[in-house]
Amino acid sequence: MAFPTMRMRRLRTTAALRGLVRETELRADRLVLPLFVSETASTPEPIQSMPGVERLPVGAALQVAREAAELGLAGVLLFGVPAEKDSEGTAAWDEQGAVQLTAGAIKEALPGLPVITDVCLCEYTDHGHCGVLRGDGTVDNDATLELLARTAASHARAGADVVAPSDMMDGRVGAIRAELDSEGFSDTPILAYSAKFASAFYGPFREAAASTPAFGDRRSYQMDPANGREAVREALLDVAEGADMVMVKPALAYGDLISAVKRATRLPVAAYNVSGEYAMVRAAAAAGYIDERAAVCEILTSLHRAGADIVISYHAKDAARWLAREA
Ligand code: PBG
Repeated sequence: MAFPTMRMRRLRTTAALRGLVRETELRADRLVLPLFVSETASTPEPIQSMPGVERLPVGAALQVAREAAELGLAGVLLFGVPAEKDSEGTAAWDEQGAVQLTAGAIKEALPGLPVITDVCLCEYTDHGHCGVLRGDGTVDNDATLELLARTAASHARAGADVVAPSDMMDGRVGAIRAELDSEGFSDTPILAYSAKFASAFYGPFREAAASTPAFGDRRSYQMDPANGREAVREALLDVAEGADMVMVKPALAYGDLISAVKRATRLPVAAYNVSGEYAMVRAAAAAGYIDERAAVCEILTSLHRAGADIVISYHAKDAARWLAREA
């Protein structure tokens, strides 16, 4: 059957008909809001390249978490900004660290709001790499695993509902699973940043977390943006090590991989709409070049359509309001 018998425009005639045949509906309860919690901030500190996002002291983070819960978001994802950095990133597993204190405060005040914690060393190391260094300046994969496992366990002890390793070391999911299990956290799920690419779109995040590598770049551990089959292999390896959910990051240029990883793993898949993707939309909207609300709803819905069960985005609060009004 083809034109003129078949006319695709029939079902686009009215808003009601378009609603009737809409295939994908993004809801607030699939959106996760990332938060930067700082040990040094006494009031919220704006992040220049991410208008509307701030580094928060623990109390303010709790306040934003409360808004997130009221908006019906799926949860918050915590990143820490420590007072002191050193070569091993020891502040990452400090029981009094900003992530640990915030996780505890949120679980006490808002027990129903899922708290996901980012597990990585780059915000905590003085050299800004995601693992410890050997004498020659390369990242020592195997020596890093124990530190990541220690960090994840400290998050679980503090109350984190889900831990999310973002370092891209080989074997970290297995190491974290073993450590969590040995400490009695066998029910704490792991959301693995499985296909995380060495991307130009993390720039604003590195301003927010002061985590730009002091030398070199992350291409010896994060993936080459040209590789799709490898992304699927990474995800399958994480599944074999015990990942409960897998992630593709960044999101906008990687829709093909969200779909491919979803098909290959059959696990819940998260897509991370990263800082640079947020900054581009905000900048274009501020310049009057695009309609922010329409662009954000289109972007986030397209990630869900591509196969993301969970969408992590700095737009999450605005999007929750906009999606609710659209429904
Ligand atoms: C830590 C981490 C990064 C992001 C999430 N976890 C930075 C990086 O890998 O350089 C980026 C998030 C964003 O850009 O929004 N490894």
